[in-house]
Amino acid sequence: MSEELEIELPILQGKPSPFPVPGGCYALTVNEVEHYSATLFRFRVTRPRQFRFRSGEFAMIGLPNAEKPVFRAYSVASPAWDEELEFYSIKVPDGPLTEHLQKIQPGDTVLMRKKATGTLVNDALLPGKRLWMFSTGTGIAPFASLIRDPETYDKFEQVILTHGCRTREELKYGEDLVARLREDPLVGELVRDNLLHYTTVTREDFIRQGRLTDLIVSGKLFDDLGLPRMSPEEDRAMICGSMAMLKDTKELCLSHGLTEGANNKPSQFVVERAFVD
Ligand code: A2P
Repeated sequence: MSEELEIELPILQGKPSPFPVPGGCYALTVNEVEHYSATLFRFRVTRPRQFRFRSGEFAMIGLPNAEKPVFRAYSVASPAWDEELEFYSIKVPDGPLTEHLQKIQPGDTVLMRKKATGTLVNDALLPGKRLWMFSTGTGIAPFASLIRDPETYDKFEQVILTHGCRTREELKYGEDLVARLREDPLVGELVRDNLLHYTTVTREDFIRQGRLTDLIVSGKLFDDLGLPRMSPEEDRAMICGSMAMLKDTKELCLSHGLTEGANNKPSQFVVERAFVD
């Protein structure tokens, strides 16, 4: 049977686009767009039946606005079981993709290359007692997927989603998500019992302030949560944020005795970059 979700004529801002869907891509229909601020938004699209991915992976996203469109890597923010796909995006002024992507509306077409990949997957970690998710900014996206996947709670007794942002406004996506998940019929009980959500901001007043890395070094992160310092025996970690954040947080995982894992060699922590313009 042909792909029923693949559409012949791509739509851009409500109008047919003159550019065909490039080979090797799905044409996805936008179902929902939510803007959080001048710089952040999320959108949900139809999921082709054949598209398989593991929670935490990313795909290449583009728009049908050129013969050879610009593609950028986006973590799928929805879990592997979901019938739709969700993405969480920054809006970069003059960003070759996000400048246009931020204007999408329901009914529009978004392009996605057919293969998903990535290291922030449960398979790349050995089982452990706790899973630490360290994220800054839009780096929360792969964790938005993983905290909605029951498999994550099968593998780890406790999951700690940490999110560091410049301002409180930037925390809203994660806060709304966790609040919704606590009421979710599939994972609500797991989330209420096993997920901790720890937020901090760096550029305005808030109940918790400072970079996650500084809070790890000082030990405040662990003390605030009433948890022991990370150890290779009990703790696993996933890291997603800016290049500098990845590097610094990786160093801290290493200094706590954790070793880096990969898909073909599961270990104690994994790293991914946040893919933005
Ligand atoms: P700061 O305000 O001190 O730069 P960005 O939007 O630049 O990616 O930053 C998102 C959040 O990540 C901000 O709170 C920022 O703090 C923080 N951050 C930036 N660099 C690092 C780093 N190397 N380690 C940890 N957090 C960082």
